Amino acid sequence: MFDKLNSIISEASKVFILTDENVAPFWLPETEYWLGLKNAVEIVIQPDEKHKNLQTVQRIWKTLMRHHADRNALLINLGGGVITDLGGFAASTYKRGIKFINVPTTLLGMIDAAIGGKTGIDFGGGKNQIGTFAEPLGVIVNPVFLQTLDEREIFSGLAEMLKYGFIADANLLNVNLENYQQHIARCDEIKREIVATDPKEKGLRKVLNFGHTLGHAIESHCLTTDYPLLHGEAVTLGMQGALWLSLKQCGLQGSVLQNFENQFPMLLSEAEVQLSEADVDPIMNYLSFDKKNKGEKPQFVLLEAIGKPIWDVEVDKDLVRQAMRYVIQKVSCR
Ligand SMILES: NC(=O)c1ccc[n+]([C@@H]2O[C@H](COP(=O)([O-])OP(=O)(O)OC[C@H]3O[C@@H](n4cnc5c(N)ncnc54)[C@H](O)[C@@H]3O)[C@@H](O)[C@H]2O)c1
Repeated sequence: MFDKLNSIISEASKVFILTDENVAPFWLPETEYWLGLKNAVEIVIQPDEKHKNLQTVQRIWKTLMRHHADRNALLINLGGGVITDLGGFAASTYKRGIKFINVPTTLLGMIDAAIGGKTGIDFGGGKNQIGTFAEPLGVIVNPVFLQTLDEREIFSGLAEMLKYGFIADANLLNVNLENYQQHIARCDEIKREIVATDPKEKGLRKVLNFGHTLGHAIESHCLTTDYPLLHGEAVTLGMQGALWLSLKQCGLQGSVLQNFENQFPMLLSEAEVQLSEADVDPIMNYLSFDKKNKGEKPQFVLLEAIGKPIWDVEVDKDLVRQAMRYVIQKVSCR
């Protein structure tokens, strides 16, 4: 990989490195040194989901233009899922596409966001509404970056690891703070296999959205409140809702939901979840943004059993509302 990387970098007409204000002080000089970058143009943006938008992309495009980036330029995305989604989108649209490399610095980025070629930004109030499918030339996974990551962010990544446990490999249902680093490679393998079979999400790839239909709606809604949730925290609640629906609609055993809820003290230990009955309607409204919907009907990925996901499951809106109430009631009496 390092030989390939060296030649990608040396063949580029100009190298840009995108990161955010949290990552830069820890890792920008180190990464430039480590990759042998001498004259890379640094683009340091404000962190977090609220900046994953068109204004930030415009800033990146303008910097590329100001430095005369041509189609042979290279963008290195150094950061979490926000940076790799944003940077991948900016690179794949600038002059109809320049090369990019992802260097994920969060657990969630290493096992999910940086891999698989989905790029995007939030728009019009909905998550990832505008985006492209564009593969990075390479993804460099190095757990050393996790040394400076908050524990809350690690828990957010653990939620996506559990997702792989539910859809593909029951061994991953036992991840915790002590053992998660041993499972990064397995998660990457699962994601790469699924994406290779269905790169454009026509069928099988949809299983990667397990927990994300409600999860994205909860995340989008909470971003408008004083209690935003991290992506993985919202996905935790989304998976709880999806498991409840799987129980009602697909014959999933109740113990699967019960065991998952036993992990909540760990997964949500750092999250401030402030949801009540008043949040049900706004969350239901955000469901209409989901890209998997067919017309008005929400489509879910549900489970018949662990490792047996089914996709494109149409669920009655009243049942979804009941699932949301279940989630809120359980999370409120934690
Ligand atoms: N494209 C995909 O397939 C895909 C898949 C899953 C999630 N996503 C997207 O990923 C995003 C979430 O990614 P995330 O959880 O990595 O969040 P993030 O990118 O917002 O990073 C989390 C926080 O940690 C900071 N940070 C990152 N690395 C650090 C480090 N090593 N040390 C200290 N601080 C660090 C960031 O500045 C940020 O404040 C969401 O926008 C989600 O939609 C995309």
